[in-house]
Amino acid sequence: MARRLFIAGNWKMNLGPAQAAGLALELKAALASNTALDVAVAPVAVSIPAVVAKLKHSGLHVAGQDLHAEASGAFTGAVPGEHLREAGCTYVIVGHSERRQLFGDDDALVAKKVKAAFRAGLLPILCVGETLSQRQAGQLEAVLDQQLSVAMGGLAADQAAAVTLAYEPVWAIGTGHNATPEQAQEAHAYIRGWLRGHFPAFVADQLRIQYGGSVKASNAGALLTQPDVDGALVGGASLKAADFLGIIEAGLAARRASRS
Ligand code: PGA
Repeated sequence: MARRLFIAGNWKMNLGPAQAAGLALELKAALASNTALDVAVAPVAVSIPAVVAKLKHSGLHVAGQDLHAEASGAFTGAVPGEHLREAGCTYVIVGHSERRQLFGDDDALVAKKVKAAFRAGLLPILCVGETLSQRQAGQLEAVLDQQLSVAMGGLAADQAAAVTLAYEPVWAIGTGHNATPEQAQEAHAYIRGWLRGHFPAFVADQLRIQYGGSVKASNAGALLTQPDVDGALVGGASLKAADFLGIIEAGLAARRASRS
């Protein structure tokens, strides 16, 4: 089953409203006639309104980088999914490894945030992936099992199918050392097999799995033509229009070539 390519840019804690709006405009101009794939960008929360304003009627999506599990209340500094939705987001990243490692988001909290995303009318981009020491200890599959079963275990099948998973090996994030296409495919195939074992078949068929970790134009083609790699979650290389557009072009070109 052909799954539509989905490339998302995670701008992390970069680009205030003015710079974010500028990058959004550049992307809109370049991708205005794009119908071949889904594209989303995730600005910092305060830049979301400026980006949404620039991307109106562009077909490009805006994502939050995180959300609080509750809809409102005394949680100083937190942003609920409901506000992201009201501001114009359609997606939200959940369980990014930086949240897990630097902010203490554990699997149980990630599971709550996935549910909170659906409650708010947002589609979660749920990040999973192993650290280098876990991989070296042969724990890749056990780590994925644990992260997937806690975060997705309680979902109805139609919600599960609407999740985007991002396989992001922690050792590849921001390091310049991407997983090889074979390593990515192996992990993605394992994830798809896990989905087949836990949900009706349509979930594994429909759910898109992005690869994330040092994706750039030079490696995007080889990664995005792997059978179970349905897109990319891009950090550093999403901060400049030329770099991000280069990834999109390389991915589309390689997919066209591999099908002809
Ligand atoms: P990177 O980040 O592309 O800079 O490695 C990916 C991510 O954190 O999603």
